[in-house]
Formats: sequence, structure tokens, C-alpha cells
Amino acid sequence: MKDSLFSSVLEAIGETPLVELRRLTKGRNGRILAKLDYLNPGFSKKDRIARQIVEDAEADSSLRPGQTVVELTSGNTGTGLAIVCGIKGYPFVAVMSKGNSIERARMMSALGAEVVLVDQLPGSPPGQVSGGDLEKVEQEAQRIVRERGAFRADQFRHRGNFRAHLLHTGPEFLRQAGGAIDAFCDFAGTGGSFAGCAAAFKAQNPAIRCFVVEPNGAAVLAGESITNPNHRIQGGGYAMADLPLLEARNIDGYIKVSDDEAIRTARALARHEGIFAGFSSGANAAAALQLLDTTYQGKTIAILMCDSGLKYLSTSLWPDELVQRPGSFVRG
Ligand SMILES: Cc1ncc(COP(=O)(O)O)c(C=O)c1O
Repeated sequence: MKDSLFSSVLEAIGETPLVELRRLTKGRNGRILAKLDYLNPGFSKKDRIARQIVEDAEADSSLRPGQTVVELTSGNTGTGLAIVCGIKGYPFVAVMSKGNSIERARMMSALGAEVVLVDQLPGSPPGQVSGGDLEKVEQEAQRIVRERGAFRADQFRHRGNFRAHLLHTGPEFLRQAGGAIDAFCDFAGTGGSFAGCAAAFKAQNPAIRCFVVEPNGAAVLAGESITNPNHRIQGGGYAMADLPLLEARNIDGYIKVSDDEAIRTARALARHEGIFAGFSSGANAAAALQLLDTTYQGKTIAILMCDSGLKYLSTSLWPDELVQRPGSFVRG
């Protein structure tokens, strides 16, 4: 519990607040409950999976004392692992695309990680990491693992990713909301947050409907073809049709969100709710608004605020025009 004295920051991971977005939903019928996971020590929900993957690997001896840990990251999992490995005494190498914002690389380095930045494919714009860019990062991560005999945290496959949300995030949502959740929607990267929360929700109440959120033009999980691989919603939407952690039986549907919708809604969260979060949090809130405006009028939708807006200060999410004309980018 958060009112105890902790022996390390690892115990400060999770148990994040749940807040009703009354201002964002003003004039609408229904509620959105947002879990402020950007308040974790590394400013993202990925601290949860970093701790779970490392502790599960310690428990099953797949991670040896002092062994190097390597992971492909868009920055957040790497930050979580940098914190967890730093405290537990494992050297950590983060392998990241140059397309992700530079704040992340700086933060991981500050936390003691060795950061390896991988060039994007020719033609891929900075800030828009495609599935192809990610494939290059994957190749580099595999090379470093081989070279150093390292433990690969493997967030796309390791069950610790799923278990972090099954054992903690999902049950926290249910407890904090008093069980009153009708639907959950989540922008998928690895799909671990979606899968773990959805499994926890359905175990308690099979009537809770769970929707995967994808970028417009890269909705491959929904079975659509890719027309916009370089979308701007950082942290997910990699257009990978096969996400090993996703369980089809817990997916009730798919929601598409445009770059513009995600960005506009992230700015509205900051301006109207005092919630300074990133692109994917904007995508989740935009998807929840779509549900309230259509089939879920009068219902309660649960979403995650995945990471902090501070991680995107160098990006177009918070452009200079916002400083010059505060509020000019949001409705109302
Ligand atoms: C900012 C952000 N949003 C969303 C996601 C997607 O979460 P998940 O991998 O659990 O699907 C990630 C994953 O790295 C992320 O960093």
C-alpha cells in the first residue's frame, strides 16, 4: 500500500490512482475512468511489466545473478527495466529505434542503462516507428543477446508482461471502480496490457467488453490492410498481425483512432483534466469517447493513461504554437 515506508522504489510501482474524466465527457452520457499509470516511478505503465518479467525470471532461474538483461523498447519498457535492473544489480542494454523521442534515451542512460540506438529504414520519418523499423531493432537486440549471453526480457512474448496486468492492473481497476466497469479499450503495442486486464476483468465479470485500439491505416489486428504504417501514436500500433500475448477469446471488438484524434484528445486531457499524458493515452481516451458516442452510451469505460506527456516534449504533440496560443489546439 502506498502509505507504507518502502525499501526501494520497486515497491512504488503500481497502485496508481483511478480518476473519472468528468470534464472530457461533459455533455455526454456515461463515464470514462482513467488509470494514471504515468505516475509510476519511470512515468509509464511499463514499470509494472519490467518488475514482473525480472521477478518471474528470477523465480524460474531463467535469469542468473548478475546476468546482462537486453530488451527492444520504444523507451518505456527500457526505462522500467533500467530502474528494476539498476536496483537489483543486473547490467541492462536497451535497444531502441532512433524514431522514438530522445527524452527516452536520455532517461534510460541516466538510470544506468546502456542505450543502443538503431537507424530507421530509409524514408521512415522520426517520431513514426513502423513495423519495418522495429524489425531492424529486433535484429540488433538478438545480435547483442547472442554476443553477451544475455537474458532477453522479450516483452512481446514473456508471460510476465501479461501477468503484471492480470495480477495487478486489472484487479486494481476492479477494486477502485467498485466493479462498475462495462467496457475497457486499450491501444495495443505488445498487447500485454490489453490481454492481462481483459483476462482479469472477464474472470470477475464476463460481461465486461474489451476492445483493442489500433491506429487508422494500420489496423491489422482487425484484419485490415496497412495504408499508414508511419502513424504518429508512439508506443504501439506496430501492424504486427501476430501478437503472442493477445488471446482472441477475450477480444470483443476493435476501435480505430486517427493520429489527429489521438493528439487532439491528449491535448484535451492536459487542458481539461490536468492529465499530462502521451499519444497512446490520447488514443485510449479518444476510443472511449467513440464508445460513449455509439454503442456504450450511459456506460462506464475503463482506460489506461499509459505514460507521461513529459516523454514527448520534443515532439509535435506539444508544439511551440501551444505555448504561444494556450488552448488553441483543443475543443471547448
Ligand atoms: C506509451 C505506450 N503506450 C502503449 C503501449 C502499448 O502497451 P502494450 O505493450 O501493453 O500493448 C506501450 C508499450 O510499449 C507504450 O510504451
